[in-house]
Amino acid sequence: MLTAEDKKLVQQVWEKISSRQEEAGAETLERMFAAYPPTKTYFPHFDLQSGSDQIRGHGKKVVAALGNAVKNVDNLSQALSELSNLHAYNLRVDPVNFKLLAQCFQVVLAVHLGKDYTPEMHSAIDKFMSAVAAVLAEKYR
Ligand code: HEM
Repeated sequence: MLTAEDKKLVQQVWEKISSRQEEAGAETLERMFAAYPPTKTYFPHFDLQSGSDQIRGHGKKVVAALGNAVKNVDNLSQALSELSNLHAYNLRVDPVNFKLLAQCFQVVLAVHLGKDYTPEMHSAIDKFMSAVAAVLAEKYR
């Protein structure tokens, strides 16, 4: 559960990266594909070379979806319902992969924000990404 303080910290992180969403998203995907190569199997139709248009475009979509989740943090199930359907029924992404993406996103935040990414922010984002992953995995039950 995110505390009120966690929510505030997640909001602050979002403000800090708001101008670099596409970059952050693309870097997250590139790290995921590099560190966890099996994740690439979900994207056979993508050009997975560093900085490709598809990686940039998709990275932007993913971070925008997370931004929407930040805005609707008290109502995640509803806010992410369609994405949850998509990942469970259409894409059939194994839920373990949500944790991998979350981890890569955190590394990107740390790289971009450096000392500004405090341990408290790290903890808050960790809880937030776990909550998002839980909702995205909801429909598998
Ligand atoms: C598509 C978000 C995790 C695989 C999408 C889209 C969004 C999104 C916004 C585009 C939906 C649309 O076009 O309507 C997220 C979020 C995630 C997440 C917020 C985790 C927090 C993952 C993971 C994988 C994955 C872990 C696989 C390893 C895909 C694929 C597509 C997709 C294959 C379709 C891409 C395409 O053909 O354009 N996701 N995703 N997603 N996602 Fe995810």
